Amino acid sequence: PMTPKETPRRILENADNTFEKTFGQKAILTTKAHARVNLIGEHTDYTGGYVLPCLLPYKTTISVADNKSSNEFNVYSELFDEKVSFSDFIRSKDNRWTDYIKGCLSVFFDVNPQLEIAYLNILINTSIPIGRGIASSSALCVAILKMLRNYFGIRYNNNQIAILAHKVERNYVGVSGGIMDQMVSSIGIHGKALFLNCLTHKYELIDLPNNHRFELIDSNIQRDNRNSAYNDRHNQLKKAENIIDVDNLGTVTIDQLDKSLFTDNLIYKRALHVVTENQRTVCAKKFMLKNDMSRFGNLMNLSHTSYSQDFEASSPEIDLLVQRSIESGAIGSRLTGGGFGGFTVSLIEKQNYDDWYKNMRTFYPEERFFEIH
Ligand code: GLA
Repeated sequence: PMTPKETPRRILENADNTFEKTFGQKAILTTKAHARVNLIGEHTDYTGGYVLPCLLPYKTTISVADNKSSNEFNVYSELFDEKVSFSDFIRSKDNRWTDYIKGCLSVFFDVNPQLEIAYLNILINTSIPIGRGIASSSALCVAILKMLRNYFGIRYNNNQIAILAHKVERNYVGVSGGIMDQMVSSIGIHGKALFLNCLTHKYELIDLPNNHRFELIDSNIQRDNRNSAYNDRHNQLKKAENIIDVDNLGTVTIDQLDKSLFTDNLIYKRALHVVTENQRTVCAKKFMLKNDMSRFGNLMNLSHTSYSQDFEASSPEIDLLVQRSIESGAIGSRLTGGGFGGFTVSLIEKQNYDDWYKNMRTFYPEERFFEIH
């Protein structure tokens, strides 16, 4: 399985070197934010429910210095090997990566009108696989906003940073996502899962199990929240909230979900996924606390079935991946993230890991496997 190629130290040195080569000066500060995997609780965040993600070793690092030679922002992405300069915060018409940077700058200066704009040279380095449902865009926004906070010396806590990053995705980029990704990327702790109530933002940090491991497998299907399928599901759930006349589907129990109110069975199925998923997430957290990982795995499997059949966010290839993982000895397996592609996450007892891996490798090449911890 692949591990992050660089240790944090090497990334810093690299970033520094590249920074000097790119901008002819040294970076004055560096920030970072990690990707996440959601263990359970999908499309429950923007409906005021529960999620249970944890941080991944993959991360985005931002280095910065003042641009003293022109009145513009220069941003260099090592991943895309592209340097872009701009002096306004107008969003592109074709979903460019720079929109996330411009969005962060725009939101940050909006909420801090007292600040005089400082033009910056910014370097972005990332080890996060992009478009795989592990929140690369949130990590980017959180890292940029933490950089701006530190650069301007504004007293935001990490919770506030997450809320700002969420604002960037919703109001600037135009994705109707919830707060899960930004929260875990900004306040998460390695080795712990974050059980988050997305309505109150109350959370608990729970130790990941010692005798089990989680593993990601790439479905090889590229995804992007900016694609319409994600927003479609969001809108269907908002319709469901209107139908049953509640503000947040996440607060509805299965007994309260009255099927007879729905004239459109599709909307009912979407709501059914969310209502049952919330219940599963609350139970999963209890099982993790008790270290009852076989029950936890079972909930992951039920979650996938619901995500695939009621929410219709999976695909035949992904269902097969999940099925093969379970047949190879995983206790639980499911598609993680916003849906329609990206990674699956599997739970495997450590003592069965080698057999599981050997068997899965008969179906998928090494580069499809990613370690979590
Ligand atoms: C994406 C969004 C999150 C969440 C998940 C689905 O990752 O950014 O807010 O809605 O999809 O659980």
